[in-house]
Amino acid sequence: MDNQNDAAGEATGRWCVEADAGAGVTTEAEIETLVRAFYTKVRADAELGPIFDRVIGDNWEPHLQKMFNFWSSVMLTTGRYKGQPMRAHLKLKTVTPKHFDRWLMLFRETAEEVCDAETAERFIEKAARIAESLQLGIFFKPERHDPERKAGCCG
Ligand code: HEM
Repeated sequence: MDNQNDAAGEATGRWCVEADAGAGVTTEAEIETLVRAFYTKVRADAELGPIFDRVIGDNWEPHLQKMFNFWSSVMLTTGRYKGQPMRAHLKLKTVTPKHFDRWLMLFRETAEEVCDAETAERFIEKAARIAESLQLGIFFKPERHDPERKAGCCG
C-alpha cells in the first residue's frame, strides 16, 4: 500500500518512479510498454486487427498516446484522460461479445508478460470491469424491452 501514490513521483523522472515501483504498483513507463505491446498484438490479430484497421488505419500514434493517458488515469488516478470511451465503442457496429473476450485474452497475456503478477492482476481486473460496462452499453438495449426509455437516452 505504501507505493499507491506513485503518480506524484512522475515529476522527478521516469527512472526514479521505476526504481520506486514495487509489487502491484505500476508506472507511466510500464503503462507505455504495456499499451505498445498490447496494440502490437491487437494489430496482428485476425479477429481484432481489421476492426482497428478500419478506424485507425496507419495513424496509430495518436491512439496510443490516448491509451497511455487512459491507463494513467485508471491506474495512477492522474486524470490525464479526457474522453468518452462508450461513445467511441458505440460507433463500432461489427463488434460482438466474442471480440471482447479476445481483447481481454490478449490484454491478460500482455499484462502478464510486461508486469509483475500483482500489477498484472490489477490491470486485468480494471480492464474486465470496463469491458463489462462497455458491453452493457453496446449490447444491452433497454429500449428493445421498454420503448419509453429511448426518449431519455443520452445518445
Ligand atoms: C472488442 C473489444 C474492443 C474493440 C474492438 C475496441 C476498439 C476500439 C477502437 C477501434 C477505438 C478507436 C475509436 C475511435 O478513434 O473512434 C477504441 C478506442 C478506445 N478504446 Fe477500445 N476497443 C475494445 C475494448 C476496449 C476496452 C475493454 C477498453 C478499456 C479497458 C477500451 C478502451 C478504449 C479507449 C479509452 C478508447 C479511446 C476513446 C476515445 O477517447 O476516443 N477499449 N477502441
